Amino acid sequence: MRPGKRRRWRGRYWHDDDASRSRSPAERARNDHLLQAIEDTVGMKIGIIGAGNVGTGLGKRLAVHGHDIMVSFARSPDKVRTAAMTIGAGARAGSPEEAVAHGEVVIIATPWAVTLEAVRSVATGLDGKIVWDATNPLKGDMSGLAIGTSTSGGEEISRAVPGAHIVKAVPPFAEVLHSDSMEIAGQLPSVFVCSDNGDARKTIVDLVGQIPATAVEAGPLSLARYSEPLGMLLVQLAYAQGMGARIGASLIR
Ligand SMILES: NC(=O)c1ccc[n+]([C@@H]2O[C@H](COP(=O)([O-])OP(=O)(O)OC[C@H]3O[C@@H](n4cnc5c(N)ncnc54)[C@H](OP(=O)(O)O)[C@@H]3O)[C@@H](O)[C@H]2O)c1
Repeated sequence: MRPGKRRRWRGRYWHDDDASRSRSPAERARNDHLLQAIEDTVGMKIGIIGAGNVGTGLGKRLAVHGHDIMVSFARSPDKVRTAAMTIGAGARAGSPEEAVAHGEVVIIATPWAVTLEAVRSVATGLDGKIVWDATNPLKGDMSGLAIGTSTSGGEEISRAVPGAHIVKAVPPFAEVLHSDSMEIAGQLPSVFVCSDNGDARKTIVDLVGQIPATAVEAGPLSLARYSEPLGMLLVQLAYAQGMGARIGASLIR
């Protein structure tokens, strides 16, 4: 090794300082962020409520980082079993109660209309757990938000299960999660991470980084009042205005 050339151990990968210098600052920042996330948050037990597009998309992208995943919640047990197979990497199917008992982190990925009932049914199990609220409180026909700006889906979930540490982070579109690359036009989409609990927020920032997406540590849960409408805008642009689902928002600073 040449004098001055350093290799640092970051989690599971050696990070070559010379190689990193040859990349663009944006690429280097992205890689550093991802490597730091991998170092900080590995091998967690993650429970998922919602065996649909987002539940499987997040599950699949997190499972490759060595997390131990149990997925739950559909109208048929077959669908939950198929979701576990889609996630792969040893992911298991269970009931919502089992997924909550399994997870150090529990991801909520349910349609808004059934979300509060679903979380209330497992409220005791969620006590003290970190809950990644990946929902958006859309009306059933996706024409608008069912609630918003004076409250948020994240805050309503927090009221329904006050013992849990709710972290709002609306993920990128499921079409992107299930595609080969998370990059859109060469950039990772931003995900705004809001919670009143700093440690819980940091954990979800790390997991969002592993998807990978650019996690923006956005502040308190009440800011979900504004991140959820941003998600609604993207839904409108994608599906009503014809831009398609391979779009995302990005914070420039
Ligand atoms: N899709 C996206 O791109 C995207 C992006 C960001 C955020 N989100 C938000 O993420 C959440 C989930 O979206 P998604 O696209 O993953 O929805 P989805 O594909 O419809 O998945 C929803 C899951 O909940 C289950 N479910 C619904 N009603 C149920 C009931 N009454 N009893 C038992 N299980 C029930 C569904 O099972 P069944 O199939 O059996 O009904 C399915 O497993 C929503 O809040 C959405 O706004 C979505």
